[in-house]
Amino acid sequence: MELLKKLTACDAPSGNEEKITELIRAEVEGYADEIYTDALGNLVARKKGSGKRVMLAAHCDEIGVVVTFIDEKGFLRFSDVGGLYLRNLINRKVRFENGTIGVIGTEEENEKRAMSKMYIDIGAASREEAEKLVSIGDMAAFVGDFYVQNGRVISKALDNRAGCYVLIETLKNVKSDNDLYFVFTTQEEVGLRGARTAAYAIKPEYALSVDITDTGDTPKAPKMAVRLGEGAAVKVMDYSVITSREVRESLVSLAKDNGIKYQLEIMTDGGTDAGVIHFTGEGVKTGGISIPTRYIHSPSEMISVDDLNACVQLAKLFAENI
Ligand code: CO
Repeated sequence: MELLKKLTACDAPSGNEEKITELIRAEVEGYADEIYTDALGNLVARKKGSGKRVMLAAHCDEIGVVVTFIDEKGFLRFSDVGGLYLRNLINRKVRFENGTIGVIGTEEENEKRAMSKMYIDIGAASREEAEKLVSIGDMAAFVGDFYVQNGRVISKALDNRAGCYVLIETLKNVKSDNDLYFVFTTQEEVGLRGARTAAYAIKPEYALSVDITDTGDTPKAPKMAVRLGEGAAVKVMDYSVITSREVRESLVSLAKDNGIKYQLEIMTDGGTDAGVIHFTGEGVKTGGISIPTRYIHSPSEMISVDDLNACVQLAKLFAENI
């Protein structure tokens, strides 16, 4: 899990993906025939082949906060970068690119939550002091340590460094004649933006988006069939996409034939890169493999190591056999 730890430790809120794409580039160098970034910062690692043109996508950005105002006492006001749950914010730590740590506080005493009443405290005593460390427009990511315990991983940014891990391990191990594009997409959390231009440029015949999905297995969780530890989730649909029947059936039969634990996923809120890839150009047969994840969009997301490995196996088989 050393690679996953390295991937999650790297801060890359949407639009600030340079560090994570550099890290991934260094990791996959030597496994791809061609590696490049495009205008939106997507990192593409291509493994050339004479077969089908297949795009595998995992977003590498993460949710965060952006500084909108600094008051005279040195407190920072902020807005969200991606979907933040207000309940996850109070008293949490965030880290800016220069290493500055902030604690999120709120003016409200009761359980009511409004981002407009929240602030980031970087320990500055005045606006002047704060401005030495942070400027308007600076982004910060959650601080959240990495643990492996009882076969589960707990960390910040498993959304979607777990997906990046799946793509990297697939690229390292795949043996295929297909023309494979491994794309580490940008700005997914703010509206599936990087994947759109990447798919337009690559014009794949088939695509697979690898991302995380919710689970329905915690006390009083909403009814959802996905459970931690029950295997790779094969996406049926989310709000952004109804997956290609051909891709979905291929994933299910590959899982069955190779003894890979799988489950079917319908996520009623949230989308993935598949949502924009599938209607690019004249359309792309697109599916998804998801890593079941608890406490999504928090500094303490949780996945199962077995599920993660099942996703790697299934993504590799898909790349080789579609
Ligand atoms: Co997300």
